[in-house]
Amino acid sequence: MPGIRGPTEYSREPLRHPCLKVNSKEPFNAEPPRSALVSSYITPIDLFYKRNHGPIPLVDDIERYSVSICGLLGNPKDLFMNDIRKLPKYNVTATLQCAGNRRTAMSKVRTVKGVGWDVSAIGNAIWGGAKLADVLELVGIPKLTKSTPSGGKHVEFISVDMCKEENGGPYKASIPLIQATNPEADVLIAYEMNGEPLNRDHGYPLRVVVPGVIGARSVKWLDTIKIIAEESQGFFMQRDYKMFPPSVNWDNIVWSTRKPQMDFPVQCAICSLEDVDVVKHGKVIVSGYAVSGGGRGIERVDISVDGSKTWVEASRYQKTGVPYIADDISSDKWAWVFFQAEVDIPQITEIVAKAVDTAANVQPENVEVIWNLRGILNTSWHRVHVRVGHSNL
Ligand code: MTE
Repeated sequence: MPGIRGPTEYSREPLRHPCLKVNSKEPFNAEPPRSALVSSYITPIDLFYKRNHGPIPLVDDIERYSVSICGLLGNPKDLFMNDIRKLPKYNVTATLQCAGNRRTAMSKVRTVKGVGWDVSAIGNAIWGGAKLADVLELVGIPKLTKSTPSGGKHVEFISVDMCKEENGGPYKASIPLIQATNPEADVLIAYEMNGEPLNRDHGYPLRVVVPGVIGARSVKWLDTIKIIAEESQGFFMQRDYKMFPPSVNWDNIVWSTRKPQMDFPVQCAICSLEDVDVVKHGKVIVSGYAVSGGGRGIERVDISVDGSKTWVEASRYQKTGVPYIADDISSDKWAWVFFQAEVDIPQITEIVAKAVDTAANVQPENVEVIWNLRGILNTSWHRVHVRVGHSNL
């Protein structure tokens, strides 16, 4: 493979922000502290969570690097960086969230398999690149195509990194062709993050960004785009990142009974408080993020300080000082919304946050009812316990 170094080169790890909480060293998985996460609507690159299933590859011969587009299409092609850069460039503000976000809390109900995460396996970036719909047009697949003449209905993204779960083969995932060729879906072949060239941790030189969908489908270090008839048969599509009911365990699991998870459900988390924080008697600011998949906006975020007997509605914003209006033309459709409420804390209590999206989907009250053996999609009401005492908060 041109320009791609062998595994011995992987030991040269990128430099990373010291405040990241490392959840696993190899493969490297890390998230920022809650408070740092909500200090900026656009997540700084060094504070953006890093989620990997294998060693971080090093692509260093950019002149020779190309993406091969092949499979069930008439006109296969290798595209070089210049070919992608020549296409119209789009900047899409989109939140990427790992399906395993908040897994640690789910594992307290019953053991789950997977890297533990607090509430920060999520970040919001401005992704710059070409639309996949334009890239596919270069190989003769028109916009809004459901199926190619030779029966291609899905687009598989194959990476250059090598994963244990794929028996040493590359990470891969797919999305439906109709989504890939729909310019409104804003699926990008991205070469920039927050105005800078992608760095190694986040997929240099090219990654896919599928807005509104769990992070697992946004394949980094892209090598091949393959038009296929069925969904990708890769491990992370077929034997991982599927949502099972609480009754399914490792003895009775039948992976083929469930579809790969795509859109993520409505989610929110309080980030201004840790569990357990000591706060001063009186007013406390409760703030955090809320987001929903599929481009659905956030209709409401409710906060309770008395164990969900009464609720107050938090204010919402994307741009500081500008109230957020779901589905408004000026709102970032694929991005999270920050919320804030000032509440009175009289005593030891549990502060609860729940979000509602524009389709009136509400987060489930308890993690128990959505427990699943892989520990994905913990979108239960977010709870933090606080004590009143002497504190600077
Ligand atoms: N792409 C490759 N090639 N290898 C990976 O391990 N992890 C996926 C996705 N793309 C992964 C990948 C998962 S599970 C997530 S949540 C996102 O990348 C994380 O992207 P980030 O590390 O840029 O935050």
